[in-house]
Amino acid sequence: MRKYNLAVIPGDGIGKEVIPAGVEVLAAIAKQDSGFDFEFSEFDWGSDYYNAHGIMMPDNGTEQLKRFDAIYFGAVGAPDVPDHITLWGLRLAICQPFDQYANVRPTRILPGIKSPLSGVGAADLDWMIVRENSEGEYAGQGGRSHRGLAEEVATEVSIFTRAGVTRIMRFAFALAQSRPRKLLTVVTKSNAQRFGMVLWDEIAAEVAGEFPDVQWDKMLVDAMTVRMVQDPSSLDTIVATNLHADILSDLAAALAGSIGIAPTANLNPEGAFPSMFEPIHGSAFDITGKGTANPVASFWSASLMLDHLGETAAAARLMEAIERVTADTSLHTPDLGGMATTREVTDAVLEVIRGWNG
Ligand code: IPM
Ligand code: MG
Repeated sequence: MRKYNLAVIPGDGIGKEVIPAGVEVLAAIAKQDSGFDFEFSEFDWGSDYYNAHGIMMPDNGTEQLKRFDAIYFGAVGAPDVPDHITLWGLRLAICQPFDQYANVRPTRILPGIKSPLSGVGAADLDWMIVRENSEGEYAGQGGRSHRGLAEEVATEVSIFTRAGVTRIMRFAFALAQSRPRKLLTVVTKSNAQRFGMVLWDEIAAEVAGEFPDVQWDKMLVDAMTVRMVQDPSSLDTIVATNLHADILSDLAAALAGSIGIAPTANLNPEGAFPSMFEPIHGSAFDITGKGTANPVASFWSASLMLDHLGETAAAARLMEAIERVTADTSLHTPDLGGMATTREVTDAVLEVIRGWNG
């Protein structure tokens, strides 16, 4: 029996609602599939922990997480703690030391869900967004001087390294190559940003030489937003910097029907450290405690995690179960215009799983 040790960090807000739902679903899958089992270890890190201890996670947090096969993460962000503290104190404090440099964000229109774009259906929008997840605009370089004075200054430096750009380009080209269309769009802003983004473009062209069967093109990020809206079927795999992909992936999620569905994988592709799987929606404290958060993003993230663990059959079956449930509009949560609760959607997915044979 294959055994996986999973670290579970629900974090803040609706993370505490959708991640337990995801754990139930994962446990049900393990029960149904005799080939593997999970051991879940939950960590109470996040804003409540911060309010009690002054830090988002213990100093040896990453040390504690190292032994796990994967991390299942909810969200960070609370109304009473500054966002940069919650982000840098937990999410980025895990992503960066664990060198989870490839952030993968699949975007599709699931059955039963409507895109806000008229005439755009499932066949027209099937993207894989690859976000550089270790440097760029989120590298953490910068500072503030002369606080509060008229001459106060702040810098926020984007970092692009040959090693960092090369590895994310290789990852993106390989992912594009693994998909039927073998099509990659490299997002850039090298017209305005003459150094980092020009290096980014040059390395994309170099790496393209290693993947002669992948067709690729380059888009300026501003024009990319237009293309995503006006010509979604012209896109397949997309690679962008940390900040550009952060923004584009929210747009992508909205175009695919709801941010409540969009999953993400923070991968350390070499497996030197655990990878982390999370819904991209964030803590959403406006709907926290109402029991109406959409758990689909956390279930889809769980499917990405199964895939990463090598349980590809279970990953595909979970995706099928999710799609059967989204196909039923009476099981849509309010973000999708419905009235279903987190509990109802979870129960429906559990029911499909429990119906699997062997
Ligand atoms: C995401 C989120 C985060 C980010 C937030 C929570 C800081 O929007 O994963 O896309 O910007 O990276
Ligand atoms: Mg984002």
